[in-house]
Amino acid sequence: MQIIPLHPGFGVEIRGLDLAGTVSDADWSAITAAFHSKGVLVIRGCSLDEAGHIAFSRRLGELQIHVLTQFLTTPHPEIYVLSNALREGKPIGNHKEGMNWHSDWSYRAEPAVGSVLHGRICPPEGADTLFACMHQAWEALDDATQARILPLQAIHSYAGYYDRAFPDRPLTAEQRAATPDVTHPLVRRHPGNGRLALYVGREVVKEIAGLSPEDSAAMLDMLNAHAVSEQFVYRHRWQEGDIVAWDNRNTMHQATEYDDTKYIRLMHRTTLAGERPIPALA
Ligand code: SIN
Repeated sequence: MQIIPLHPGFGVEIRGLDLAGTVSDADWSAITAAFHSKGVLVIRGCSLDEAGHIAFSRRLGELQIHVLTQFLTTPHPEIYVLSNALREGKPIGNHKEGMNWHSDWSYRAEPAVGSVLHGRICPPEGADTLFACMHQAWEALDDATQARILPLQAIHSYAGYYDRAFPDRPLTAEQRAATPDVTHPLVRRHPGNGRLALYVGREVVKEIAGLSPEDSAAMLDMLNAHAVSEQFVYRHRWQEGDIVAWDNRNTMHQATEYDDTKYIRLMHRTTLAGERPIPALA
């Protein structure tokens, strides 16, 4: 098994590993260590069945069930489906989800620790997923900005994002009640490596607490643009059978467009149970 860097500073590809076969304890240790230290883990050519995808994900952490239950369309509720495909005229997955820079479930009091996405049907062009390293984004900020934002908190709103992104298919009353707005530090400490990470996001992060609406919007615009500067970003070009696992505590990601009139995309995601972000100043 080889571990190959994908980007200076974060992200690795694991090669020479057959996840469908027997994986030695030493290899599992190396995989989980890479997941916890590198932010993004890519394993190509896996083609796991649904049970295999869940079993692999469970090696990385406990799984949780997505609030959008209409997209849990496999026999396994742990799998959240992202797709433009229809079955009997009904969507089998969420389509055009995640096209804003975000980290998964930041709108929860205990956001997802990580996510494991398996590419099952991947368009030959478009539909890449971009990942940005929030440690690097934090570390590249100038001292004055770091000092200013270190104590700040931001409000994350799933309903606010969802209403804007999908006005034609709003959250149900139950889903809305399950996802009230939450407040998180703007800078968090990763419990595994102790480094600080910027904790922002487009659309879901509604405002910075305690600032005027204008100052909050300007600060968020600046931080969101900075956070995804090219030098912090890895672009994943999907091949069928890929597994990409990422740490939501120190990365953001964004899905990108594809020609959905020409291609079907089918992705299965599992989501690792959450933990409360540790504020930088704790
Ligand atoms: C996600 O936001 O979790 C999915 C990203 C993608 O579909 O590329």
